[in-house]
Amino acid sequence: MRKELMTRTVFVLNGPNLNMLGKREPGIYGGKTLADIEADCKAAGLNLGIEVDFRQTNHEGVLVDWLHEASDRADAVCINPGAYGHTSIALHDAIRAIGTPVIELHLSNIHAREEFRHKTWTAPAVKGVICGFGAHSYILALQAAKQLIQ
Ligand code: DQA
Repeated sequence: MRKELMTRTVFVLNGPNLNMLGKREPGIYGGKTLADIEADCKAAGLNLGIEVDFRQTNHEGVLVDWLHEASDRADAVCINPGAYGHTSIALHDAIRAIGTPVIELHLSNIHAREEFRHKTWTAPAVKGVICGFGAHSYILALQAAKQLIQ
């Protein structure tokens, strides 16, 4: 099949505590649940012509496993690593280990918050970082993914 006719797959990976969205500090993270954001991402995927494989885990190693899986099964990855972005060299290494382009995203503007959130270990390993647009950060990340894999 010609490449442009093939469906492109984007993994949207979510790290710890993001399953609590909706209840979790809504003044910072907004009122949408993760299920709402998944539905928004799937709808955006339809418009962009990409299949969205949306996942969440509270476990660092599972995110590492999913990044490895993405190297065979995804054309791009959008990841909200949650707090693991600030702590995990394993995630940095996993992103660097795969050829698949990775985009980091955060709901909140991590640079406008506590100093310990200003740096992520993942940022130097990814193509780019989107933060501060609430749930819309996910849609912006999917648009960037689409442009990267076109
Ligand atoms: C977050 C920002 C992180 O600092 C925090 O630990 C999260 C959510 C965000 O989406 O704004 O869990 O990644």
